[in-house]
Amino acid sequence: MALKDIIIWPDPRLLKLSKPVVLNDDGTVPDDVKALIKDMFDTMYDADGVGLAAPQIGVHQRVVVIDIRAYDKNKADDDKSEAPSGEAPIALINPVFSDKAGSLEWDEGCLSVPGESGLVTRAAKCRVDYIDVDGKPQHIEAEGLKSVALQHECDHLDGKLFVDYLSTLKRSVIKRKMLKLIADIAADQAEQGR
Ligand code: NI
Repeated sequence: MALKDIIIWPDPRLLKLSKPVVLNDDGTVPDDVKALIKDMFDTMYDADGVGLAAPQIGVHQRVVVIDIRAYDKNKADDDKSEAPSGEAPIALINPVFSDKAGSLEWDEGCLSVPGESGLVTRAAKCRVDYIDVDGKPQHIEAEGLKSVALQHECDHLDGKLFVDYLSTLKRSVIKRKMLKLIADIAADQAEQGR
């Protein structure tokens, strides 16, 4: 199991455009991308997230992982009316939206913006075309949280975060908190290195 550090916004690495994964000549997924996907799942589960995009661990390739079952777990003591069920974890390589419909407001969070959340309006339903870990073209149709998660994670590949949808004021308040968090982490690390 390889846990990676999750980069915290507004680190500039989160604002970079990610490049499409180039498959092997025989159409299979390169071993380093398979290893990346495994690290991403490990890191996401360790952080109790429902999704993670490769740039969040500093890799600028178009890969996202999603497992909305973690949402059930986090919501265990809350109202379960919105909780999805029976959804398998999924890794998407080179995801592209081929359809979006409706709108849905969701209070989103992000592992790169720990402890913060904000209301974002997304498409209520979407269809995404992607390559799976076996190199096969696939598509997924999603609604509700899964639709939100897909749009949120794919935004990361274009250097965009949920905070970019918030008001300038709310965004600047969150940014100040995150800069302090980044400074605190750096200070802790310096202390430990002493
Ligand atoms: Ni995120």
